[in-house]
This record gives sequence, C-alpha cells and structure tokens, in this order.
Amino acid sequence: MEIPRIALGTYALGDDEKINEPIRYAIEELGYRHLDCAEFYLNEKAVGTALKHVFDNGKVKREDIWVTSKIWNHHHRPEDVEKCCRQSLKDLQLDYLDLYLIHWPCTFADTPDNNPMPFDEATGKMKIDNNRSVLDMWPEMEKLVSSGLVKHIGVSNFSIELLERFRFDPRVKIQPYCNQVECNLYMQQEALRMYCEFRGMYLECYSPLGSGSWKQKGQPNLLGDPVLCEVANEIGRTPGAVELKFLLQLSPKIVILPKSSNPTRQKENICLDFTLNDDQMERLKKCERCYRYIHDARDWGVNVHGDDF
Ligand code: A2P
Repeated sequence: MEIPRIALGTYALGDDEKINEPIRYAIEELGYRHLDCAEFYLNEKAVGTALKHVFDNGKVKREDIWVTSKIWNHHHRPEDVEKCCRQSLKDLQLDYLDLYLIHWPCTFADTPDNNPMPFDEATGKMKIDNNRSVLDMWPEMEKLVSSGLVKHIGVSNFSIELLERFRFDPRVKIQPYCNQVECNLYMQQEALRMYCEFRGMYLECYSPLGSGSWKQKGQPNLLGDPVLCEVANEIGRTPGAVELKFLLQLSPKIVILPKSSNPTRQKENICLDFTLNDDQMERLKKCERCYRYIHDARDWGVNVHGDDF
C-alpha cells in the first residue's frame, strides 16, 4: 500500500472516551485512510479501541488503513525497540504497523522510574544521554521489518545532516521511508523538501495548520494570514483547506497530518478537490517566515533543528 497523503493526526484528539466517534466518522464517512499515532500521545489504547469498532463494523478492513506509530525518546536502547513496537501494537490492537518512526533524534537518559520526560531540576533542561546515537537503534528498527511487525520505518524531526549520516553509515540497510517534521505556510521546509524528494523519501508535515497554539502562546495566527485569506476568498474555500492544498501541491512526496475532532473541519481537511494556480502558489510561497510553532526540543535544551536557539 502506498502511503495515503492525508492523515488524521491523533495527538490530543480528545479525551480517551470521546475519540471513538471522530475516528469512526473520519474513516467510515469521510474516507480517511491514514492515522498518525505515537507512544508519547498516551492515547494508543483509545485509538486501538476506536479502530477495533471500525473493523468490527465491517465497512473498512485493516489492510485499507495506514497506521503509523513512533518510539519515544527514553526508549532508544536497542533492546527497547521491539518491546515498544509490540506495546504499541498491543495498545492499537493491530498485528502490524504500516510505519514506525523514531520520534526525535535525541535520546533521553534512563531513569530508575523509566520517566519519559526526565527533567533535570538543576539545569532546567532534559537529561540527555549523549553516548547513544539513533544510528545504534536503527538495525533494531530494520529487524521489525524483517520480522513483519512493521511494513516501513522512518524518522521524525531529523535534519539533512543527520539524514546524510544515515545515508552513508554502513549499518543502515533500509533508508528512512519518511521524515516527519513541522511544515506549514510559515515553515515551508524548502531545503528539506528538496532533499527528501531527491532521496525519494516522503516529508510528512506535522502542525500543518499552525497548530492552533497561537491561541495560548501569542504565536502568529497562521489561518488568519492575509495572503492565505486572500487566496481562500478568490476560490471560495476556507484558509485551512487552502493551507493544506498548498502543502500537497508543493511536492508529490508531501504527506499532511491535520488533526481535528470536529466533523466539519475533518471534512474540510480531506475534501481538497480544487487546484491552486501558479500565481496563487507563488504568492503563498512568499509567506515563508522560517517560523517554528513547536519548540519542544529547545525547551529540552537540545538544538535538534539547527535553528532553534
Ligand atoms: P479542532 O480539533 O477543534 O478542529 P495542527 O494539525 O496544525 O496541529 O492543528 C490542529 C488545530 O487546528 C486544532 O486546534 C484543530 O482544532 C484546528 N483545526 C483543524 N482543522 C482545522 C481547519 N480546517 N480550520 C481551522 N482549524 C482547524
């Protein structure tokens, strides 16, 4: 199965007991065929229950849905990899994943209580294990493919430099299928996008709508961008739909991961049956600000992206 280019993001999709219906509606009524999940989202059990209901209903089969999960930063020891994958499979009630990603290239220190966020009060940063490289765990990721637990393996939040290390490291037999990064109107990832295209790798866009976090943190309101709104008016679509279509038109190797639990917006995010013309694409490309909404790594004290301090 080729990866469906529009996914439903599941991070903070809603309270566990409330996500059955948005997932069912998205899959059965709107035709979503791709769910983006992760160990760290702490809701894989709830997503698994929702998926089971969908499969039990009989309208959609397991093999019609692409399911991605990701291994978290405190689980980078080679011996963690299969264990974590099996845990995600158990929680999601699946016997294989379509895609399994290394969530971040930074490795958190082991703690006696297996803390996923081992914050160091003394430094105000996350405790990082600098002796371990994500390259060390990659052969274990590859084994998941040969054992049939996952169909594809990939990475998230990786820089070009790190992807180049993967390209030339003799231990790497399967190159990453994709790199999932923040990508939207204000962070268009041109260099990474061209690199991924050149390598035949998908670039998956998280926070494709600017994350909604401007509401809390005073960040720019991407969906209120004047150029985006102008183009939306020209074609009689919403800024959200135009933003998503813009990303899809940037490259055939782009995958978008919008998250919504609202049926109207879920529909808007997948009904992208229109085309932006060259002039509209060019005007939107000029909106680039190299602006990040998501600063997790900076908050941890790690300069993952190279532009984060
Ligand atoms: P909601 O779940 O209430 O629809 P991102 O995918 O960039 O992280 O953004 C997710 C945020 O954007 C959520 O707050 C979501 O809220 C909102 N959202 C999702 N789709 C749309 C849309 N088409 N238009 C406006 N806001 C949207």
